[in-house]
Amino acid sequence: MAKVTINDLIKLKAKGEKFACLTAYDATFSRLISQSGIEVILVGDSLGNVIQGHKTTLQVTTKDMAYHTACVAKTDPRSLVITDLPFMSYQTSDEALKTAAKMMRKGAEMIKVEGGHWLNSIILDLVERGIPVCGHLGLTPQSFHMLGGYKVQGRSEADAKAILSDALGIQEAGASLLVLECVPRQLASEISAKLKIPVIGIGAGPNTDGQVLVLHDMLGLSPNPPGFSKNFLKDANFVSDALKCFLNSVKNGDFPKEANWYD
Ligand code: KIV
Repeated sequence: MAKVTINDLIKLKAKGEKFACLTAYDATFSRLISQSGIEVILVGDSLGNVIQGHKTTLQVTTKDMAYHTACVAKTDPRSLVITDLPFMSYQTSDEALKTAAKMMRKGAEMIKVEGGHWLNSIILDLVERGIPVCGHLGLTPQSFHMLGGYKVQGRSEADAKAILSDALGIQEAGASLLVLECVPRQLASEISAKLKIPVIGIGAGPNTDGQVLVLHDMLGLSPNPPGFSKNFLKDANFVSDALKCFLNSVKNGDFPKEANWYD
């Protein structure tokens, strides 16, 4: 099967077909996820929680992200590989370019950054220099302390307006993808419909173009998984079956269901 590129995701959005994304941090899961047909692998800084055991992602370093990106890329996955730039590694265009270059050299094919309008000029600089960018809005875990914990975002009219405006700004700046985390279903639906670029939801309802989950949550390995996640290993005999079940459930609309989103 041919390598998945951003063009494939854009075509899927145009056809109204859903796609799936899972986090991975090592070669074994990179290979399994890729073989399952899941279109996107995210080397998420959630590795701070699920690999390193921290309460937040703030402790994750550029060196950590580069190491795990190299592990994931080593298997030449068919899936598109996106890597998170970690906390405080992309505050200026210079810093972002340096951090992103490290990830791209290790095998990332796109980088992800968390935040709204303040990032627009940085995204523009990355994109103009050939680095594809995925934005991340709603619950942005690197702002854990500003947000007062892991909470649904965009519930008030003003907050919803701000997230929509940030999403349009990120697209305008040249981002290729957007992750929307923990926002009400209606808002995610509106943003996905308004944006030309594909939107990947996590705890954002059924109407985003793609769905992403943290691998350890969907395999039932996390002690306190978020309410929007689902254990796909519960009814499967093998990890590979659980991965395929996640992909099929996203494709046919079985995931997410009401229990996995916020109104
Ligand atoms: O780090 C991560 O795993 C993420 C997902 C939760 C989207 O950013």
